[in-house]
Amino acid sequence: MAEQLKKNIFSIRANDWDRKLFDELIPLPDGTSYNSYLIKGSKKTALIDSADPLFSDFVLGELKALDVRKIDYIIANHAEQDHSGSIPRILDIYPEAVVVTNEKCRNMLLDLLDIYEDRFRIIKDGEELSLGDKTLKFVMTPWVHWPETLVTFLVEDRILFSCDFFGSHYASSELYVKDERVILEAAKRYYAEIMMPFRKKIIENLKKIDDLKYHIIAPSHGPVYDKPGFIVDAYRDWVSDEVKNQVVIAYVSMHGSTLAMVDHIASELEHKNIPVQRFNLAEVDIGLLANSLVDAATLVVAAPTVIVDPHPLAQYAAVLVNTLNPKTRFIGVMGSYGWAGTMVGKLGSLISRVKAEVLPPVLVQGHPKKDDMIKISELAEEIYRKHKSIKII
Ligand code: FEO
Repeated sequence: MAEQLKKNIFSIRANDWDRKLFDELIPLPDGTSYNSYLIKGSKKTALIDSADPLFSDFVLGELKALDVRKIDYIIANHAEQDHSGSIPRILDIYPEAVVVTNEKCRNMLLDLLDIYEDRFRIIKDGEELSLGDKTLKFVMTPWVHWPETLVTFLVEDRILFSCDFFGSHYASSELYVKDERVILEAAKRYYAEIMMPFRKKIIENLKKIDDLKYHIIAPSHGPVYDKPGFIVDAYRDWVSDEVKNQVVIAYVSMHGSTLAMVDHIASELEHKNIPVQRFNLAEVDIGLLANSLVDAATLVVAAPTVIVDPHPLAQYAAVLVNTLNPKTRFIGVMGSYGWAGTMVGKLGSLISRVKAEVLPPVLVQGHPKKDDMIKISELAEEIYRKHKSIKII
C-alpha cells in the first residue's frame, strides 16, 4: 500500500505475505515486502526502486491512486529483479521516465530486463540530481548485495533509501518498525543470507554512509527505520571481527552414532559454560542455522558416512557455510563410519573458504565407545581453550 512518509514522499510497499523461500534457498517465516518510494519534487518526480515483477500491477495501481501522471526518474539502487523487475512496465506507462543508476547497474539491467539502452541516465559516486525543492544524492555502496549496489540519499529530508542494505524479510501492515526486537531478528536472518558473505565490504560502506547524517533509513525490504540507531549498531556488531562464546553444532545422524557424539560434546561444552545451538540438518530451517553463524566463535559439523562420503545433508550444510562465509574462528568435524573413514577430509574441503582454524577431528568406527568419548571430551576442551585464547570466556 502507499503511505506518506513525509510531505510529497510516499512509500509503496508490496507485501508478499505468502512467499516461503527467497532465492529458493532461505525460508521466509514472515514473508517479505518489496518497497519502492515516490518523491514528488517541485519540478521533477522520482520513483526509487520498483518491485518484483509479480507486483507490477500493484505498483502501477498505487501510482495511479496517487495520481502520478508523470515520472521523470526511476532510480535503480540495485539490479536484482525483486527491485528492478517492474521497471519495464513502469517505463511503458510513463514514457518520459529514464532509469537513473550507475554504469555497472545499467549493464546488469540490460542483461536482465527488456529495457532500451536510451532509457538510462548514468550517475557517478557522490553525484546529485535535483527534483526542484528536493535533491537526490547517490552513494556507491558495492556489495550490499551485488557489485553494482548504491544507496540514494534525500538531502533535504535526510532519508537514506538503502535498498537491500538494512533490509528485513518481513511483510507488515506497519510503515515503520514497531517492535525493534522482532525486526532485529528478521534483519539478522536477512543479513546472514544476503550480506554476510560481503562482511568486509559492508564495513567500508557503513563508514561511507556515516557522513550522510541520515534520520530515517528506508530499505526496500521490511519496515522503515524512523529510529535507525539500533539497526546500524547491530550491523556494526555483525560485521565486526568480534565473535561470541557460542558453538553451533550442525549434524545429521542415521542410526544414533553421530547423535551420541553430538549429545556428548554438547553436554561437555555446556558444563564449561559454552552455549550450544544444535541444528539437526534433517529438519533444520537453514535460515536459523545461518543466523546463528553471524556471531558464533565455533562451528562443529557432525555426520555419518554414506557409502564413502559424508552424509549429503552435511555436505549441503558445508557448502552453504562456505558460501555464506561467516566470521567463525574455529571449526570442528566429527563423524562415524562403517568401513570407509574418509569423510573428515572431504567435509573439510567443502568449507575451505572460511578462514577458520580447523580443530583435530574425531572420527569413530560404528557407535562411539569409551575411548571415542574421551576424544570428544578432548575436542570440547580444545574449544574451551580456543575460546579462552581469544578472551571470549
Ligand atoms: Fe532484494 Fe538483492 O535484492
